[in-house]
Amino acid sequence: MDFLPKEINNYCEEYSQKEDDVLYDLNRKTNQKILRPRMLSGHLQGQLLTMFSNMISPSKILEIGTYTGYSAICLARGLKKDGVLHTIDINEELEYFAREYFEKANLSKQIISHVGNAMDILPKLNISWDLVFIDADKENYINYYNLVFDQINKGGFIIFDNVLWSGKVTQEINPKDKETAALVELAKILESDNRVENVLLPVRDGLFMVRKK
Ligand SMILES: C[S@@+](CC[C@H](N)C(=O)[O-])C[C@H]1O[C@@H](n2cnc3c(N)ncnc32)[C@H](O)[C@@H]1O
Repeated sequence: MDFLPKEINNYCEEYSQKEDDVLYDLNRKTNQKILRPRMLSGHLQGQLLTMFSNMISPSKILEIGTYTGYSAICLARGLKKDGVLHTIDINEELEYFAREYFEKANLSKQIISHVGNAMDILPKLNISWDLVFIDADKENYINYYNLVFDQINKGGFIIFDNVLWSGKVTQEINPKDKETAALVELAKILESDNRVENVLLPVRDGLFMVRKK
């Protein structure tokens, strides 16, 4: 599914900062070599993540769902000088591929990869986060929110990706479709949680941003 009419998307890309050589190559090689390349954040969303990260200037970022490392690089570019991004992915086959690009981006010291199920790894990371990007299995989004919430600094942010789920969240939900049901449930929880401020942005497949009060 195209998220925007092609000419609108092209226009936005034309007038947004271009991918540098590392991101361009990572995007291209992911599309050539890796299964399900549509999962990669891509040019516009990637630049937006870098912009957010630069605005927040975080010391500690958590990412759930590394895939080939595109969004990790985009987010890590806004880190404070000595800041660190921890990223988790369950797929060990992607680790080497992503690591190569962290090195090419000169970020290998600032990006720490964890391989395994985020539900197992998160309780072991005793870190206070300034920014959390959640982009993995949708059925666990609410669990991730509950697990990391207390570790987020006051004024810190969480961004959830794919919250529009190709528009399925606005349609009647098939009882077998656990992912869409989980995303709608998450939206309701975030909207009624008075511990956070929230905005759902129709960017790409939907970004839900919350700020801890
Ligand atoms: C949409 S992709 C992430 C894309 C990446 N953030 C980007 O924008 O380039 C989702 C990733 O989450 C990982 N994943 C799925 N379930 C997971 C789990 N339980 N724990 C950790 N990673 C998981 C998948 O292996 C996949 O690489």
